[in-house]
Amino acid sequence: MIPDKVPKDDVFYGAAELQKGAHVPTFEKYKDMYMQSIQDPDKFWGDMAKDFFWKSQHTGRFLDYNFDVTKGEIFTKCMAGASTNICYNVLDRNVHDRKLGDKVAFHWEGNEPGDESMVTYRELLHAVCRFANVLKSQGVRKGDRVAIYLPMVVELVVAMLACARLGAVHSIVFAGFSAESLSDRIMDSGCSLLVTADGFYRGDKLINLKILADEALQKCRDKGFPLHRCIVLKHLSKEAHETSLSCPPAKRSCPDLQDKETSRVKKSRPVPQVPWNPEVDRCWHALVAAASDQCEPEWCESEDPLFILYTSGSTGKPKGVLHTLSGYMLYTAATFKLVFDHRPDDVYWCTADIGWITGHSYVTYGPLANGATSVLFEGLPTYPDVSRMWQMVDKYRVSKFYTAPTAIRLLMKYGNEPVQKYKRDSLKVLGTVGEPINPEAWHWYFSVVGDSRCPIVDTFWQTETGGHVLTPLPAATPMKPGSATFPFFGVVPAILNECGEELEGPSEGYLVFKQPWPGVMRTVYGNHGRFQSTYFKKFPGYYVTGDGCRRDKDGYYWITGRIDDMLNVSGHLLSTAEVESALVEHEAVAEAAVVGRPHPVKGESLYCFVTLGDGRTFNPTLEAQLRKQVREKIGAIATPDYIQDAPGLPKTRSGKIMRRVLRQIARGEKDLGDISTLADSSVVETLFINRCQPAL
Ligand code: PRX
Repeated sequence: MIPDKVPKDDVFYGAAELQKGAHVPTFEKYKDMYMQSIQDPDKFWGDMAKDFFWKSQHTGRFLDYNFDVTKGEIFTKCMAGASTNICYNVLDRNVHDRKLGDKVAFHWEGNEPGDESMVTYRELLHAVCRFANVLKSQGVRKGDRVAIYLPMVVELVVAMLACARLGAVHSIVFAGFSAESLSDRIMDSGCSLLVTADGFYRGDKLINLKILADEALQKCRDKGFPLHRCIVLKHLSKEAHETSLSCPPAKRSCPDLQDKETSRVKKSRPVPQVPWNPEVDRCWHALVAAASDQCEPEWCESEDPLFILYTSGSTGKPKGVLHTLSGYMLYTAATFKLVFDHRPDDVYWCTADIGWITGHSYVTYGPLANGATSVLFEGLPTYPDVSRMWQMVDKYRVSKFYTAPTAIRLLMKYGNEPVQKYKRDSLKVLGTVGEPINPEAWHWYFSVVGDSRCPIVDTFWQTETGGHVLTPLPAATPMKPGSATFPFFGVVPAILNECGEELEGPSEGYLVFKQPWPGVMRTVYGNHGRFQSTYFKKFPGYYVTGDGCRRDKDGYYWITGRIDDMLNVSGHLLSTAEVESALVEHEAVAEAAVVGRPHPVKGESLYCFVTLGDGRTFNPTLEAQLRKQVREKIGAIATPDYIQDAPGLPKTRSGKIMRRVLRQIARGEKDLGDISTLADSSVVETLFINRCQPAL
């Protein structure tokens, strides 16, 4: 399945010196390790597990599973019977056994440049113990669910690890989600406590988080689900809190977290008005100040739940993806170490919000399990200007940088100058995640951001997979721009046709996995039936990703987009990502999104939304050029039927294009349903007004 030889031409490599001392220095080594991981997974993962602390060893098979619905319940178990604690492993083990207590765990940088702090592993451990004691004092016990609705602050890591220390299950809700989304999630996972903050700034915009949290709690009460406790962190304001929150004049955070007296909020800006309900609300700082910094971890069983994280489902109702302890710990630690080729002196920066799986696995658990030093960033790539990322790369000497294609495309729009005015000479590996990266963005990232020196790890994975499943390894894998290349250790991909037959060699179809790896999700919280039917019913015996995938003649995997984003035009399967990539190759186009619109003859037609670069105007000549471009790149079958000028695209706050909304606009459906996850809902109105009318 892994090719014997990789191509010499049309592939890209990072600088040769990266191979020196790399964990996986060559493609040959990758192949050997991959074969071991498949032939003897118990040994492969068992060796990885030796780095961790186990209170007692596992009793059954290392990895046990059933992926075939026709043979009974779907399950995966990793190291069943073993007893451990993930918080102990990512903190105490680093502080005590690995002597990393004084190492910086996080350099935190706020929205406002100059607002910064840092926390060492020892300080983080103490802060987590204090907060774990706080949670205990509020009645939280092993197995209880705790909702966390916080901005990107160190206390978010503290809160999640404090839950893990107690064996409580965190359910983090991205702070960009609405009150309604928060209340739905609180109720679905049956949380007994909410942790939130007063508010935060994203760029110039104030988010009154506490007001949203209060609304969510009211909605819960209205639906007969009263939540009795809400712990409120004062993040933005000191003075305002001392009156409105009736907090003692404590420092911003736990005594262990350093606090620089900097301007979190520009002087001219308002601090939020924080409503306070003395029945329910408790001040983070007051509770923490009174708590001990010693807290014995709760020893948990390997398959005890670690967290629930919601991801959107095709039915519209988000699914609570459940991950369990040991398998997730092993997998995030291993992928982080090998995919970023982690070295002790690295400074690593993942720009994802912890409210998404990328933040869970590659801001918190994976890096901390490896004793890494990370940057934790609250702000935006474009605030106060579009150089912010590169300025921070130089400031912290970031060596491993991980972001999303959408951010790359956004910054690419502004040209090379904002990047090139910073040195970026500390960078060694670049990563992307979240969606297929179009080759143009890949090349820009590679040549401009990484000065053609840094390999790009295009990591394909999902909330459900827990960690990377298809990915290059930076020193070992020759890269093809836009391909997530090959499987990670223990992962066995296959491509199926509509009949569920495995396709060999170059082919395109459904991407599935034939066996579990330690970090795969275990169930949909509270709905194992939905879990089985969503992922295992269509093709019994396989985990179905929901993504389309192509394997080329060299065995490289190329994600073509969600199957639900695949279009069937005159009986030909077309990938929206492919058409978008062709459009974006036109110099006038900054971003494109393609959806299907029903067509009486062809089945579906291609409806393209294009966002033009600065200073470009949409006109019939450009439209004709774009049609030609796509035809030339892909073929006549892919010629766009409609091209609409889209000054903005409907995106979630994490930057994902909401294709469902675009499909509805393309179809002229006025009722767009729930668009509360959109970062800016006004773009929808504009798109609607300028909608292309059906051809006569
Ligand atoms: O369609 C794939 C796309 O994102 C989906 C998973 O989304 P989510 O659960 O929100 O997790 C995102 C972060 C892991 C996948 O089904 N996707 C993710 N990474 C890539 C990708 N598509 C192509 N290439 C990637 N590298």
